[in-house]
Amino acid sequence: PQSLRALGAAIDLPIGSALTPQDITDFAAVSGGQFSVVMGANAMKWQTVEPAQGSYDWTDADQLMAFAKANHQLVRGHTLLWHNQLPTWLTDGVAAGTITKSKLWALLEKHIFTEVGRYKGRIWQWDVANEFFTDANPSGINPNDWWIQQLGESVIPQAFKWAHQADPHALLFYNDYNVTGEDGTNAKSDAVYAWATKQRDAGVPIHGIGTQAHLDTQYGFDPQRFQQDLERFGKAGFKVAVTEADVRTFVDAAATQVPTDSLAQFAQPFEYSAMLQAAISVPAVISFTVWGWTDSLSWVPGTFSGEGYACLYDVNQQPKQAYYTLQKDLELA
Ligand code: G3I
Repeated sequence: PQSLRALGAAIDLPIGSALTPQDITDFAAVSGGQFSVVMGANAMKWQTVEPAQGSYDWTDADQLMAFAKANHQLVRGHTLLWHNQLPTWLTDGVAAGTITKSKLWALLEKHIFTEVGRYKGRIWQWDVANEFFTDANPSGINPNDWWIQQLGESVIPQAFKWAHQADPHALLFYNDYNVTGEDGTNAKSDAVYAWATKQRDAGVPIHGIGTQAHLDTQYGFDPQRFQQDLERFGKAGFKVAVTEADVRTFVDAAATQVPTDSLAQFAQPFEYSAMLQAAISVPAVISFTVWGWTDSLSWVPGTFSGEGYACLYDVNQQPKQAYYTLQKDLELA
């Protein structure tokens, strides 16, 4: 059987993964061999690239770019504007009043031009803005978001405009979770749809919608709604990307990540497969990326106590049923 990337190439759907530095140094064969598009799990976030004001650290981002080049992989940049993983000098400076509103605008502009400019022409898709909407019904831009509090809602379109100026050929994405019915409601999807079409119609260079697709086998995932939501963003003229797919469940321990609910062993491949099949059948979907491929490096146990088993490969880097199911879906597509 062929790699996911080879099978994806045959149907023109790049299959990818987020990578940590350890995925690159320790597990290069799978990280390079199975995927044709990569993104940094943390490598390109502001906190990582500018740990001290005006002093840049491109180690991880450059490592990712070099790995992608060596393995003929596309790159998704992630992410320019997010409330999380901001440098402490920035948040502390704002809290102390030493970074004023006008200074913050200038710092954001510099951040976007510096980072997007550094990799100009080498990033296929940028997640420009990440996780701005609430899960509430009805949903909207979160008024308590750090950026919204500081600069107001115009910060999002402004970030898209600057990113477009810095690299006119990159596809610019708005990325979020629960925008494809993962939690059983369409409130956030509707809000993002309304906002994104309005911005785009007003001339903001927003080209795509990214659905993170972090599933949990405990939730009522609805495959039909997932596909319908991909479709409606596509019909509105957006490119669509499944950006951070994984399917977590309750496990025995963080080290072993064996599901405690035996049904999860069937639910997981089913949910991965449903997502990929939807991505395959919706023409607007241009890439399908998972948020890490091995349970040993997954973000899930560190965030959700008692959960794990979210990836295509287990803690010993052995492919799981979910992997073989995706392989079969691609073969049959
Ligand atoms: O680098 C420090 C290290 O110096 C320190 O010793 C250690 C102690 O906790 O923390 C390390 O930082 C961690 C960082 O990942 C790098 O490993 C942070 O604690 C940890 O919170 C951070 O988690 C990241 C998370 O975003 C933060 O929200 C995950 O790795 C990353 O996978 C995750 O990715 C996000 C996407 O960007 C957006 N969508 C959701 C997704 C999952 O949360």
